Amino acid sequence: MIEIRDVTETDYTEWLRLFDLYLQFYNSSLPEEVKKSTFYRSLDYNVPMWSAIAISSETGRPIGLVNYLRHVSTWSTQDKIYMNDLYVDESQRLQGVGKALIDYVYAKADSMETPEVYWCTSTSNHRAQLLYCKVGVFADKVIYKRLPSS
Ligand code: ACO
Repeated sequence: MIEIRDVTETDYTEWLRLFDLYLQFYNSSLPEEVKKSTFYRSLDYNVPMWSAIAISSETGRPIGLVNYLRHVSTWSTQDKIYMNDLYVDESQRLQGVGKALIDYVYAKADSMETPEVYWCTSTSNHRAQLLYCKVGVFADKVIYKRLPSS
């Protein structure tokens, strides 16, 4: 059994542990100040960004996280929700934790009357896509980004 809930200030250490593992999964890292800023902005009522964690009811420890944000759209009068980061501890996977975190975001999106939720992942992340094709539909888009300035 798991409980999903919004993070509170006291969750920083465990949230950071999970976020660092997520970044490692993408062979990435971020400066401490960026991670701290992300966490604290997710608690700030003036910033449309949130973070939730999954807690194991057996151990009481966080085992997964999701970070998501809301933005305006030129194609709708309603905002959209972008799910930025999703991570489940390796030893806790394939037990429905990832799906429960996504369902939590869906419920929050509905409660804000911004039901459209989208996200992206690497084309090579087949494991995540096995979950995503069950909770969503493939959007058939590719992402481009600006070249880094030299
Ligand atoms: N074979 C068959 N089915 C599989 C396999 C597999 N090898 N792997 C996963 N699945 C299916 C399962 O059948 C399951 O569906 P079901 O519950 O209907 O049977 C589904 O995929 C997995 O669902 P969950 O158990 O809810 O997901 P989990 O808790 O394992 O978390 C996650 C999935 C978040 C992708 C996890 O593997 C993870 O953290 N991976 C590393 C980080 C990552 O890839 N994050 C997502 C990046 S994209 C983003 O952040 C928006």
